[in-house]
Amino acid sequence: MSYILRSSTPSDAEALAALGWDPHAQRGLNEADLFVYPSHETWLAEHGDEVVATARLCIAPHSGLALLTDLAGAAGPLLALVDELSQHAIGQGAETIQAAAPTGSPMAAVLAERGFTVQRRVVHIHWRLPAPPPGDPPSGISFAEEIPNPEEYARLAVAAYRGSWDWLFDHWGGDIAARRNFARLFESPRDERFIGARQNGELIGFVSTGSGEVVPGDFSTFGVLVRPAMRGQGIGNYLLLRALQVLWNRGVRTAEMHTTAPSHGDPAAVRLYLRHGERRGDVSILRRSGLA
Ligand SMILES: CC(C)(COP(=O)(O)OP(=O)(O)OC[C@H]1O[C@@H](n2cnc3c(N)ncnc32)[C@H](O)[C@@H]1OP(=O)(O)O)[C@@H](O)C(=O)NCCC(=O)NCCS
Repeated sequence: MSYILRSSTPSDAEALAALGWDPHAQRGLNEADLFVYPSHETWLAEHGDEVVATARLCIAPHSGLALLTDLAGAAGPLLALVDELSQHAIGQGAETIQAAAPTGSPMAAVLAERGFTVQRRVVHIHWRLPAPPPGDPPSGISFAEEIPNPEEYARLAVAAYRGSWDWLFDHWGGDIAARRNFARLFESPRDERFIGARQNGELIGFVSTGSGEVVPGDFSTFGVLVRPAMRGQGIGNYLLLRALQVLWNRGVRTAEMHTTAPSHGDPAAVRLYLRHGERRGDVSILRRSGLA
């Protein structure tokens, strides 16, 4: 069967919704890559007058990576879309194609059929607000909402993620590139506010209170991190509960986040998030490499 493949327009919204494609779901779009390389385009496959599959493509030219996310539709047209968008990405210089699909879903099976293998899994965490009050802050540490100094925040992000998130450093090409990319994230104009934790003025941890409204009354948080030498004193828990309290005070009633599951992410972070939140469906990150 043949399909017409074309880029979607706002008038396709209804047809995409009929496929179960949710423009707000941002499955896989919480990937750090997409914060750094935020351009992306939604494509669809048509059969006759009917939209039968869709996928979102993002090309990150500096890293030789293309991302396929938000796949929806029937297996046949999805395969056609995956093939066509892969060829397009390779033509634009991509050497690796990465896709995100709910773990165990028909979409994940379609990707496996095209030689994609699971690289890691992402856990979707959901909080119903209000969360418990943060209580007293750990002693000797000051906490305040602040505008990040991108270099300072990026240095701490490298120190905090190194060890448990090594795939991200490999993927970005080492610590210097990671620091540059993190700094870009903290410079970005997204509606994101931060609470910093400081000891004698030195930044030892921070949390994002949301990276913008994903759906009304619902935010996606960037995450919490603490300097390795300062862990295990309740700083992470306090930061997270303060961030959830800020969201509640802004009228947000549920909060969502995606984080990489162990063993490619941080087991302590997942434990911390699940202390007050619940685990929703996992997303698999699949890859095909060596395509150039
Ligand atoms: C996740 C992270 C922020 C936790 O920070 P933290 O300050 O160590 O967090 P807490 O101290 O609140 O909790 C950590 C542990 O210390 C324990 N703890 C809490 N208060 C304590 C205290 N006063 N004394 C001793 N231990 C304590 C907690 O029970 C918890 O134990 P558990 O991991 O077995 O559940 C930190 O490990 C980190 O920066 N990880 C890497 C970054 C990362 O992956 N972030 C997620 C990105 S999405």
